[in-house]
Amino acid sequence: MTLALLLSGCQNRALDLEQVGEDERIVIKFSHVVSELTPKGLAARRFAELVHERTDGLVEVQVYPNSQLYMDGEEVDALINNNVQMIAPATAKMTEFFPELLLFDLPFLFEDFEQVHRFIDSEGGQKLLDKFQTDSMLSLAMWDNGFKVMTANRPLYTPDDFAGLRFRIMPSRVLEAQFAQLGAQTRDMPFSDVYAALERGTVNAAENPPSNLYSKRFYMVQEHLTVSNHGYLGYLVLTNQTFWQGLPEDIREILEETLAEVTQWERKIAAEQNKRDLERIINSGEIEVHYLSEAEKAAWREALMPVHQMFLPDIGTELLQGTP
Ligand code: LMR
Repeated sequence: MTLALLLSGCQNRALDLEQVGEDERIVIKFSHVVSELTPKGLAARRFAELVHERTDGLVEVQVYPNSQLYMDGEEVDALINNNVQMIAPATAKMTEFFPELLLFDLPFLFEDFEQVHRFIDSEGGQKLLDKFQTDSMLSLAMWDNGFKVMTANRPLYTPDDFAGLRFRIMPSRVLEAQFAQLGAQTRDMPFSDVYAALERGTVNAAENPPSNLYSKRFYMVQEHLTVSNHGYLGYLVLTNQTFWQGLPEDIREILEETLAEVTQWERKIAAEQNKRDLERIINSGEIEVHYLSEAEKAAWREALMPVHQMFLPDIGTELLQGTP
């Protein structure tokens, strides 16, 4: 379906933006909580630009980064109420609605991006994505951030080093169990509160991929970073179900095709961005960085493996068998 065809039924509407009347425009508000200079931030912006180009301004995707409109905990309600039409929360934050998503939080389940993508692109993975919908929400894609590292105000080399620390986590039972397994406490809180909480000592440790640590300067308020790559952090790109189904079919097709293309693009830049941001953090000299040795990693893995068993009933054996 070409754009010309798409617009032919619209009383010879002119193609350029100036002449698309305000009331004819379709506005998609896309709200997210991270910086624009992160894989998610860049992908949301690219999606907006491409959609603008491909619909000649008929569809306007307005991106609101940095919890400008809504913070964690609010943005899902905003989506359900159609106050925004797209969000891309970390899968951890949607586990309350879709418990199978707990899978993505399991420690040491995926070794690298390739394994994650192989799973998501598999028949089982695609079936799983299709399940993530309700009357008011519809999942459209999964985007990467990256593999998480640990930060704290003391060095983290062995599982014993976690005892007594208080970690900020995203709301996910797996993440809670992961730290309980290591003898640490947890506190779940919105992303927008993390910097202040680390600075004030409300929590004294955290986990995130380097792109979030760098763009939100968390490395400035923590003393030690361990490159553990112990867990994957990805996003569920969601829209409002009624809004999406109510779009003209041709428009929806353009949006879906563009999103699929941006998803592939995002996979490439996410890996690069995290690598670059880790280098920037190291070069800043603001935080002590330790790379887990193979032996240390094996000890972490052994300590954390029981978490996989604990969540089998939520995730399901079949689904877990489809992972590496
Ligand atoms: C967090 O809350 O730590 C991150 O998941 C934020 C994000 O969207 O990457």
